[in-house]
Amino acid sequence: MMAGTTLLDIKGVQTYYGNIRALNGVDVTVKQGEIVALIGANGAGKSTLMMTIFGAPRARAGTITFAGTDITQLPTHEIARMRIAQSPEGRRIFPRMTVMENLQMGASLDNLKHYDEDVEKVFTLFPRLKERIAQRGGTLSGGEQQMLSIGRALMARPKLLLLDEPSLGLAPLIVKQIFDAIRELNRTQGLTVFLVEQNAFGALKLATRGYVMVNGNVTMSGTGKELLADPDVRAAYLEGGHH
Ligand SMILES: Nc1ncnc2c1ncn2[C@@H]1O[C@H](COP(=O)(O)OP(=O)(O)OP(=O)(O)O)[C@@H](O)[C@H]1O
Ligand SMILES: [Mg+2]
Repeated sequence: MMAGTTLLDIKGVQTYYGNIRALNGVDVTVKQGEIVALIGANGAGKSTLMMTIFGAPRARAGTITFAGTDITQLPTHEIARMRIAQSPEGRRIFPRMTVMENLQMGASLDNLKHYDEDVEKVFTLFPRLKERIAQRGGTLSGGEQQMLSIGRALMARPKLLLLDEPSLGLAPLIVKQIFDAIRELNRTQGLTVFLVEQNAFGALKLATRGYVMVNGNVTMSGTGKELLADPDVRAAYLEGGHH
C-alpha cells in the first residue's frame, strides 16, 4: 500500500458501557506509514477507543474501516487476522510463560514458517529479551514486560500496531528505549503505529500527527509539532511535565 493512503479510518464512533457513553462520536484517521498519537487525561476514553478498534467493546454507532474493509462488526479474531496487533494497557503478558513462549503466542499459524526470523527481529530490537529468553514473563521488570508485550504484537507481522500507554510506570531511560524502538520500526520497516499516551511530550515528539481526547470527544488534532507548540495543549498536558 502506498504512503499517504488511509489505513485506519474511524468515523463517528460511539461506544457505551451499559448506558454510559464513553465515546461521543470520534473521528480519527491513521495513514499508512504514520505514527499517530492519542493523548488525553485519565478517563478520557483513550483505551476505550483502542479496544473498540478490536470490537470489544463494540461501537454502537459509527464505522471503523481498515485497509478499505469495514471491520466495525467483525469478530475480534477476524480483526486480528487483518494484521492489526496491540500491546494493551497493562501489557497483559502471560506471567507463567517464558519470554519465548510469550512470543510464540503472538505468532499466527500463517507466520510459523518465518517464526525464527521474526523472533530474531524482536531480539535485535530488544536485546534484553534475548538475554532473558527462558525467564518467566511475570518475573521480568516493568520495562522488560513492555518490550515483551510489543515483541509479542510484532510476531503477528502487523500492518498496524496499537500501543496503549507503553511508557506507563517506566523510568525515563527505559521510556526512551521503548520510544526509540517504535521510531526505528516505523523508519526502517514503515510500520504504522497508533499510540495512546499520557506522556504527551514523548508521544507528540515521536508522532507524525496527534489527537487530543477530552471526555470521549476529540477536541484537537494536528501534527506532533503543532500540538507541542499549542498553548492549550501545553497548559493542559505539558506544563510541569517532561521537558
Ligand atoms: N469496563 C468498563 N465498564 C464501565 N465503564 C468503563 C469501563 N472501562 C472504562 N470505563 C469508563 O469509560 C471511561 C473511559 O475510560 P478509558 O479507560 O477509555 O479512559 P483512558 O483515557 O484510557 O484513561 P487512562 O488514561 O486512565 O487509561 C471512563 O469514565 C471509565 O470509567
Ligand atoms: Mg487507558
